[in-house]
Amino acid sequence: MPTRRMLLTTGGAAAVIGVASLAGWAWSPGAATARAPWRQAGESFGDPRLDALAYAILAPNPHNRQPWLFTLKGADRIDIACDLDRRLPHTDPLDRQITVGFGCMIELLVMAAAEKGFAADVSLFPDGAPQPRLDRRRIASVTFRADGNVAKDPLFQETLSRRTNRSPFDAARPVVMEKITAIADAAKHGSFVDGTNDEKKRRRMIDIARRGWIIEYENDATRRESIELMRIGNRAVAENPDGIALGGATMGLLKMAGMITPETLDRPGAVAYEQGLSSYAALIESAQGFVWMTSETNTRQDQINAGRDWVRLHLAATRAGVALHPLSQVLQEFPEMAALYQETKRKLEVGEAGAVQMLARLGYADAPQPSPRWPLASRLTEAGA
Ligand SMILES: Cc1cc2nc3c(=O)[nH]c(=O)nc-3n(C[C@H](O)[C@H](O)[C@H](O)COP(=O)(O)O)c2cc1C
Repeated sequence: MPTRRMLLTTGGAAAVIGVASLAGWAWSPGAATARAPWRQAGESFGDPRLDALAYAILAPNPHNRQPWLFTLKGADRIDIACDLDRRLPHTDPLDRQITVGFGCMIELLVMAAAEKGFAADVSLFPDGAPQPRLDRRRIASVTFRADGNVAKDPLFQETLSRRTNRSPFDAARPVVMEKITAIADAAKHGSFVDGTNDEKKRRRMIDIARRGWIIEYENDATRRESIELMRIGNRAVAENPDGIALGGATMGLLKMAGMITPETLDRPGAVAYEQGLSSYAALIESAQGFVWMTSETNTRQDQINAGRDWVRLHLAATRAGVALHPLSQVLQEFPEMAALYQETKRKLEVGEAGAVQMLARLGYADAPQPSPRWPLASRLTEAGA
């Protein structure tokens, strides 16, 4: 608990902000509510589709916006659409990352169905694939079919332990290449995956990721999009269990003291602004290895397949005991990032028509608490709605 003196001392405040934002958020009744979906997965909801969806909503997804809307149709179908208000127009202007997040969710849905003895047949974009942005058309229609022979996926066992880890990684523990290969091998939907722990390449990737971070942070529109989605303090997290959760009692105190507010986070020179910039740069610097995923073309189907493979990689990393943290800044398609994105594509040997779909740092750190989720019921819509 910070003392009043600490809060009033600029240096102390910077340290407190750094520690509080990295440490995640503590237990409180509000935090427990926001994490309830992690405990409820595994309960029976009286319909195998809901049982599988209870796991699917735990998928990684950009800024934790959880943009999925589910409609149960007839006895065996789920229609999946995007809540268009939950996209990220500045950092993800073409909805590519949002679509990748849908892929992560669909893969968990299929795996969870198999656990219950159902094959889930996925039809992607049955009404056509929207370009250049998503629209109200369905992302997918998934049909459940009882199948006693459907293969269960061993990676599914990691679903409840998987975390995005935003801690600094242990500089004394490199990630050995065998582990990176085991993680990359988990892909099975056609994405290309590569990774490195080689010192020269690692430094090069750190440099690219750091420059991408600074471009995103110093750009008003993209920085503000993230600030608007920050939930500062446990109460804010409980009220909106999505976005960037900066929970914990310390965060609540710093907010009350006026030190971490949307305004200070947005003002160059303010402790919150400067600390936000440097603490994330330090995270990037602590990368002990990298993994990335590319595709030769960049269709909506490619993006979904990238997401399906990405969550598999993340589950494989969890199984291997390796912490993973996506660093998407450099892959974002807003104009100010274009030159660095092209440079990244060249470095990773991706052709003109292709895309780097994901990039993450790897390393070792204690696992954080689960991130917040909206309850499943809030993501269900009425048939025909
Ligand atoms: C397409 C995509 C891009 C992401 N990019 C970032 C990123 O740049 N930085 C970050 O900290 N997390 C990133 N994440 C992780 C999400 O923020 C994370 O999945 C979400 O907050 C939920 O947390 P969880 O993965 O621990 O359940 C990304 C996830 C996806 C699927």
